[in-house]
Amino acid sequence: MPVVPISDLAAYDGQEVTVRGWLYNIRSSGKIIFPILRDGSGLLQCIVFKNNVTPEVFEKAKALTQESSLELQGMVRKVPEGKTAPGGYELDVKDLAVFQLVPADQPFPITPKDHGVEFLMDQRHLWIRSSRQHAILKIRHEIVRAVRQFFDDRGFVLVDTPIFTPAVCEGTTTLFEVGYFDEKAYLTQSGQLYNEATAAAFGKVYCFGPTFRAEKSKTRRHLTEFWMVEPEVAFATLDDVMVLAEEFITSIVQNVVKNRRAELLALERDVQKLERIAPPFPRLAYDEAVTNLQSHGSEIRWGSDFGGGDETILSQQFDRPVMVHRYPAQVKAFYMEPDPARPELALCVDVLAPEGYGEIIGGGQRASSLELLNERIRQHGLPSEAFDWYLDLRKYGTFPHAGFGMGIERAVAWICGLEHVRETIPFPRMLYRLKP
Ligand code: 4AD
Ligand code: MG
Repeated sequence: MPVVPISDLAAYDGQEVTVRGWLYNIRSSGKIIFPILRDGSGLLQCIVFKNNVTPEVFEKAKALTQESSLELQGMVRKVPEGKTAPGGYELDVKDLAVFQLVPADQPFPITPKDHGVEFLMDQRHLWIRSSRQHAILKIRHEIVRAVRQFFDDRGFVLVDTPIFTPAVCEGTTTLFEVGYFDEKAYLTQSGQLYNEATAAAFGKVYCFGPTFRAEKSKTRRHLTEFWMVEPEVAFATLDDVMVLAEEFITSIVQNVVKNRRAELLALERDVQKLERIAPPFPRLAYDEAVTNLQSHGSEIRWGSDFGGGDETILSQQFDRPVMVHRYPAQVKAFYMEPDPARPELALCVDVLAPEGYGEIIGGGQRASSLELLNERIRQHGLPSEAFDWYLDLRKYGTFPHAGFGMGIERAVAWICGLEHVRETIPFPRMLYRLKP
């Protein structure tokens, strides 16, 4: 008898199969028991008729508890017209074997009733079995798949960058320091500096891996460990990567809409808002963004960075992501290329997702002059000896180049319509959370 994943049962209509999984839910009415099985690929309503099985099997079915692991054998049947069951197929059970019965006096801790978020986060290893978390993590997988497909289809080479690094990329305040034999190392904040080296070797590259920031802020947008995808393109300008970013985001969103509609609906996401995402995205110079924010009651002054509240105000005004470009160089990282027309500005862009989600992408054009970078490294108080290899890139064929980084969790939160990034990654790491 074939062992079949629940998602494939349609191809076995009228045939006998074995299915394996965990008990999601159960109800009974006298002579019939309806266990609902969960196997990771879907949910299956099973029917145990007292008259169709041995008394032992019927008793075993009756005793099943939530999340007990089991194997069922039976006939696949299309759900009759007028009735509904998940997936549209049900199983007429002939036999049942239990791998482990969860003891009734020590039941599965997560029940269909409401639990507080902190409790659920403590039970994260079990919580990921629930249908909502399952839908979010399936969408995350689709986003990761679409990210890779986008760059692979455009001739980018995947070149992974290291996690242990000797130097800072995004600013000294959010570094995690680790012992590295007799030296100190830092967990990477971004693969960008190494990406600039690989871009000179391969032209168009991307890296995709975990990144780390010792973020002391407890907000709905911050994790201490998150996944970032970063393309870097030789000879590209700020404008080039803005076009790349809008095509990239559009492609990811439309792949999710096409391939994960059921999961979006399970999350009660307004899919129409996602269907609308298409180029061109609105572009707003930092100067205009400041005026805009002030007219909406923000206290922002020219020259400072936006707070989370400012990003929310801006991103609520557009039905697609808005690209804010040319921030003052003083609020950005050391490697930014100055705008030749106004050197106090950096040739950079932040992409803010709509519906109040805020920044999902940061990027721009990189400084290509050796003198300027030396000066910036001094100004930012960075240890020059850690950057000698990076400066070599400006000595041996320096080139205009640009790129960006997108945080996967922020993208998942927006696309799924979630309140907080903590549900977008299987095991979130935050200021007060290292477990499970
Ligand atoms: O804007 P950031 O700091 O840019 C960089 O790291 C550049 N070196 C990227 C590049 O140009 N190659 O971070 C990029 C993105 C943000 O827009 C956000 O989506 C995400 O990374 N991000 C975080 N996501 C979750 N938690 C945090 N603490 C994050 N910090 C940044
Ligand atoms: Mg940023």
